[in-house]
Amino acid sequence: LRHFLTLDGLSRDLLTDILDTADSFIEVGERTIKKVPLLRGRTVVNLFFESSTRTRSTFELAAKRLSADVLNLDISTSATSKGESLSDTLLNLEAMASDMFVVRHSQSGAPHFIAESVTPGVAIINAGDGRHAHPTQAMLDMLTIRQHKGGFEGLKVAIVGDVLHSRVARSQIRALNVLGVAEVRVIAPGTLLPKDVESLGCTVHYDMAEGMKDLDVVIMLRLQNERMEGALLPSEREFYRLYGLNRDKLALAHPDCIVMHPGPINRGVEIESAVADGPQSVILNQVTNGIAIRMAVMSMAMVGSLPNASAPRLRED
Ligand code: CP
Repeated sequence: LRHFLTLDGLSRDLLTDILDTADSFIEVGERTIKKVPLLRGRTVVNLFFESSTRTRSTFELAAKRLSADVLNLDISTSATSKGESLSDTLLNLEAMASDMFVVRHSQSGAPHFIAESVTPGVAIINAGDGRHAHPTQAMLDMLTIRQHKGGFEGLKVAIVGDVLHSRVARSQIRALNVLGVAEVRVIAPGTLLPKDVESLGCTVHYDMAEGMKDLDVVIMLRLQNERMEGALLPSEREFYRLYGLNRDKLALAHPDCIVMHPGPINRGVEIESAVADGPQSVILNQVTNGIAIRMAVMSMAMVGSLPNASAPRLRED
């Protein structure tokens, strides 16, 4: 068994394998996902220490489409509220013959910590840790881009908004570079960019009109207020005026530019409803693709075709 913790260190061939495996679960010409017996007799535990709609639901659906037994542990009503430690909770879940933990946590590195502490028979899948990584989100985004653009070569892609607090942006920038797009841009005010942003593999635009030129894909991010901790920020109204995606700003991009967003969307803050629900939006396709990508990652983890990734130190965000 192998874990899926980050995209760091993963090759273009492996990312392409994940996309191709996901494609194999999608009925040809349909948006429906096949049910297959690949994880029959296996037990998958969803361990979400942070809220989620899309990721938790699609991991559950994906595990069920792979014929696994699925346990969703409700952390808020679990014995952790009686003082049980994370390690003891994990030991007890392992004693129930669990094969896989899908982990979301507010601390960067938490899934890596868990991967180091569980018995070798258990696979850990990162469902988003702090500001660090959200690898399955990035892969479902790559599947959506490939479906709509036919590949990655020559594409100009921009990620707009709160890059500083976004684990999604970090994983997307990594995936886009590994898969060989022509250019990755980030468009944001300096207060919403990490200091080392260019070292992630992207060019920086502070002016949205400039950054939107010739784009093939624009990915909007929400303001992650839960991670801001008093940062100096524009008001939501000012942010929308400068960086919110409306029809006028979208018209500056390539006419075939697709609009993406990992969700949850905040209408009127980072995106206008007419754009979110408009003909160039593929936001709900992303959600559907989450099932196929998570089936791919879980099934590949079970047969050991994913490498272990190096672990960052556990830290507070
Ligand atoms: N994209 C994403 O992670 O959404 P959820 O928080 O609803 O899982």
